[in-house]
Amino acid sequence: MGVKSMRKGMFVVAAAAAALFAGAAMANPGVEARQELMKSIGGNTKAIGGIVKGGPGEASEVATRAAAIAASAAMIGGKFGDQVHVENAGDVKTTASPAIWMKWDEFVKAGTDLETAAKALETTAAGGDMAAIGAAFGAMTKTCGACHTPFRVKK
Ligand code: HEC
Repeated sequence: MGVKSMRKGMFVVAAAAAALFAGAAMANPGVEARQELMKSIGGNTKAIGGIVKGGPGEASEVATRAAAIAASAAMIGGKFGDQVHVENAGDVKTTASPAIWMKWDEFVKAGTDLETAAKALETTAAGGDMAAIGAAFGAMTKTCGACHTPFRVKK
C-alpha cells in the first residue's frame, strides 16, 4: 500500500468515526419513534380540525382519522419505555418531562383518556352530525393538553 492510499484510508476511518459520534450524540431511535407517533396524532388532529371548521373533507374522513388516533393512543405507553427526558437527554432533542416516569400510572391514564375520546369521536363522526362532531373533537383535544401540561417541558 502506498502512502497516498494509506492516508486516504485513514481519512475514511476518521470520517466514519466522526459520523458515528455525531449520530450517537444527536439521534435516539426510541425518542424519535415516540415523536413520530405524536406527529402522526398531531397530523390527524390538524386534519380533523380543518374539516370541523368547515374545510374540505367528510365526516367519514373524521371517523377514519379518529380511529387512527385511537390506535396511536393505545401505543403511547409502549413507546415511552426509554426514560430519556429533558434532564438526561444530552444533545437529543426532547420535551419529555421526567414526571412521565415518576407518575407513570397517570401518564398511561392520560393516554387511555385520549384513546377513549378518539373512539367517541369516531362513533360520533359515523353519525354525520357536524355540530356533534365538533363537540366530540373539542373534548378529544382537551386530552392532549391534559397530558402535555404536566408531562412536557418547554426547552
Ligand atoms: C399521554 C400523554 C400524551 C397525550 C395524551 C398526547 N401527547 Fe403529544 N406528546 C406527549 C409527550 C410526552 C411529548 C414529547 C415527546 C418528546 O419530545 O420526546 C409529546 C409531543 C407531541 C408533539 C411534538 C412531536 C415532535 O417532537 O415533533 C405533537 C405534535 C403532539 N404531541 C401532539 C399531540 C396531540 C395533537 C394530542 C391529542 C390529540 C397529543 N399529542 C396527546 C404526550 C402526550
